[in-house]
Amino acid sequence: MATLVTGIGELTTNVEIDGDKCGTLHGAAVRIEDGKIAWVGEARYAEPAETVVDVEGAAVIPGFVDSHTHLVFGGDRSEEFAARMTGTPYAAGGIRTTVAATRAASDAALRTRLHGFVAECLSQGTTTLEIKTGYGLDVASETKLARLAREITNEVTFLGAHVVPAEYADNREGYVELVCGEMLQAVRPYAKWIDVFCERGAFDVDESRAVLEAGVAAGLQPRVHGNQLGEGGGVALAVEMNAASVDHCTYLTDNDVELLASSDTVATLLPGVEFSTKHPYPSARRLIDAGVTVALASDCNPGTSFTTSMPLMIAFAVREMGMSPAEAVWAATAGGAAALRRTDVGTLAVGSAAHLAVLRAPSRIHLAYRPGVPMIERVFS
Ligand code: NIG
Ligand code: FE
Repeated sequence: MATLVTGIGELTTNVEIDGDKCGTLHGAAVRIEDGKIAWVGEARYAEPAETVVDVEGAAVIPGFVDSHTHLVFGGDRSEEFAARMTGTPYAAGGIRTTVAATRAASDAALRTRLHGFVAECLSQGTTTLEIKTGYGLDVASETKLARLAREITNEVTFLGAHVVPAEYADNREGYVELVCGEMLQAVRPYAKWIDVFCERGAFDVDESRAVLEAGVAAGLQPRVHGNQLGEGGGVALAVEMNAASVDHCTYLTDNDVELLASSDTVATLLPGVEFSTKHPYPSARRLIDAGVTVALASDCNPGTSFTTSMPLMIAFAVREMGMSPAEAVWAATAGGAAALRRTDVGTLAVGSAAHLAVLRAPSRIHLAYRPGVPMIERVFS
């Protein structure tokens, strides 16, 4: 059974054409067979198909690849957000509030909430999701979160090294040993990635390296939370470990930017965090101009960025981070795929997954131009 999506006013393929990284086509059509793209071209050359969907001049983009989320958690931190808006600074210690609520929540309650978030993501055009653990921080709870996340996606990340939980406050070393040993072994069957929050108040560079090395030895691939709350060694560690991505990158030295530019590590920017913590937005322009591959992701979590909206990330990136709308859409699709080292999503090429978002607009610019307005008409996934 073939489906032809036709009447596409502006198609973003992300297959570079004449210096246009978005590979933009006008008056295009896409043929879908068995969940994959079978043909892309000018609509007038399209072969007939059993099902024809005419999008009547709308823009179509690849489904968003949200490469950084924390969607399995319990509890509510809206009061913490409200206090921040009137001057209380963000502190990573708030993570422990969510850990307590998550440990207390039943499987069923966590699953129901998770499924609600996933539906929210899909309705906003996200067709590939990464999901982290990190609000369990004991063996049983981290395993539970990984198992629930794996029901949704293969892109599961073990973040046992999110913060040191309260019961290990006087025994950091013991906690790092637990993460690298028993906890890693229990979570490993569900996870693809190993992550660490390398930041003052969380884990230092040596602790972070130990966690990543243990994960790699167990067959996981590294990614890093770094340089969120201040300058530090997270970016350098990510590059040293050939991590797929280093996420946040809010505070970068020139040396960090140079290291990223000469590496295969993607800089994933999470502007929902700057919105919610009132830290300054990082300059995507500085990174792109230096030759760094930039991704955008939601970081959806109850502490620093409680939104699943990739269109909102695009709007922030365009308004506050020096990205053009085209660059921001690329970063939220192909950039996210690069951050997950995936070549089958984020791009509309023959053989790619048929993940398409049809916009309620004639061009992708509207994703930033009409912030806060639902712009996704339909998703193919
Ligand atoms: O990615 N940076 C570390 N972890 C989350 C925040 C977690 C929280 O405050 O609950 C983040 O922003
Ligand atoms: Fe995060």
